[in-house]
Amino acid sequence: MKQLVASFCLLMAFFSGLAQDFRPTFHYTPPKNWVNDPNGLVYLDGEYHLFYQYNPFGNKWGHMSWGHAVSKDLVTWETLPVALPEYPNTDGTTTMVFSGCAVVDSLNTSGFFEEGFHKGLVAIYTSHIEGKAQHQSIAYSSDKGRTWQLYEKNPVLDLGMKDFRDPNVIWYPEHNAWIMTVVKPLEYTVQFYESKDLKTWALLSEFGKQGDMTKIWECPSLIKIPVEGKGKNQSKWVLMISSGHRQKGYLAMQYFVGDFDGKQFTPQKQEEILYVDEGKDFYAGIPFSNLPPKHKKPIMIGWINDWEYANDIPTGDTWRGAFSVPREMSLRMTPNGYRLFQRPVPMFQKVMSKKALVAKNAAISGVWKVPFQGDSYDLLLVIQPQKAEGFTLRLLQSGEEATVLRYDVATQELSLDRTKSGLTDFHRRFSGIDRVKVPLRKGKLYVRVLVDKSIVEVFAQGGEKVMTNWVFPTKNAGEISIASEGSSIKVNSLSIKTF
Ligand code: FRU
Repeated sequence: MKQLVASFCLLMAFFSGLAQDFRPTFHYTPPKNWVNDPNGLVYLDGEYHLFYQYNPFGNKWGHMSWGHAVSKDLVTWETLPVALPEYPNTDGTTTMVFSGCAVVDSLNTSGFFEEGFHKGLVAIYTSHIEGKAQHQSIAYSSDKGRTWQLYEKNPVLDLGMKDFRDPNVIWYPEHNAWIMTVVKPLEYTVQFYESKDLKTWALLSEFGKQGDMTKIWECPSLIKIPVEGKGKNQSKWVLMISSGHRQKGYLAMQYFVGDFDGKQFTPQKQEEILYVDEGKDFYAGIPFSNLPPKHKKPIMIGWINDWEYANDIPTGDTWRGAFSVPREMSLRMTPNGYRLFQRPVPMFQKVMSKKALVAKNAAISGVWKVPFQGDSYDLLLVIQPQKAEGFTLRLLQSGEEATVLRYDVATQELSLDRTKSGLTDFHRRFSGIDRVKVPLRKGKLYVRVLVDKSIVEVFAQGGEKVMTNWVFPTKNAGEISIASEGSSIKVNSLSIKTF
């Protein structure tokens, strides 16, 4: 019997150990339970706040409340108690606190704060009553988001609809007013509202019924983004919407670049649908509000997951869901028009180990086993396929098991293959390959990959194309290899940093 108990304990330890092994080291995950969308990303007084959709009672979606974490550097996070829990209504129903944003009401436009107090936070969220209604409500905090007061006259915006959600609010100095971007998910319609006090909202205009309409629309945000390179000192407005994926049936985010005149958003002409991230696991990303001027570019965090299988990912009994590394956003003019570029925030690099240069100007013919082993690192590769048909970069490899990044010269496609990445059969739609067109630049591919146990974030050509994916390796050898296809390739440089 004793033996039986001992082996049972061992087995349990093995399984919980296995589950723990999937927990990333430099991506934020909740200590326990379920998370989805980031909410209320806001900077105030030395702290970056990450509120998020959270189930305080379990590791599947439910009881939606706002969880809370803070960071001083956007790299390490401290988890705080739940900020906005779901709450009961007088008629016996419950209001869940769905996605939204937070702003610093430094001018006390809302009148919620004492005179002369410039550090009041106001959260604008969707009040969701299951099966009945969705409207926008507000709450305020005078102690840096630690405790909150619900506004007694909630909701502040109600169209009498069941699906109307995810408000994102910016300050529009030209009008001395707040502007809210909010969505009617089933109608593929974004609405813009204006308010002087965050309590009374007037409709400005609508935008919609274009772009990706393969799923519903959620979590919109309107944001001014600087243009890099040619046309410097300029900026354009970008409207981001969480919606469908290039591969039908999955979720992703799309964006439109255009102009906003204080009333209406007008997109530039675009021939293709523009996706923020081409992987399967980047959704509901929103920008930070009130960033200090030292940040020249807006910063976004997204939820790493896909509703297709989000409730089933095999991270064990304790936690489920993660957030991307904060990403800086900029625009660049390309032959096809303005395109979004994303890079991990520079602070992130500071905490990684010194650059470990693994290779420089190396010719590779066949398979090269990189002299590095690990499952949590920041890899930068500059590679020239020369006359080869393509090449592969195998990550988190143990024998046959690997996550494979492949470049195909003929099609100019970069693909991320997780069909043999480890656990894949927990959901029939998890296994698969993502492909994205990435032309070489002067014959070279620049690719940065953040590998973090079970998360792979790929930034190609300086962040012009990004792919974020979960993978669940089972064998943990953490090997890396690079292989040429057809003829030899040149690795201009390869460096790997660890956390
Ligand atoms: C997006 C979303 C939002 C909603 C929230 C609920 O992932 O569906 O539209 O507010 O999650 O948790």
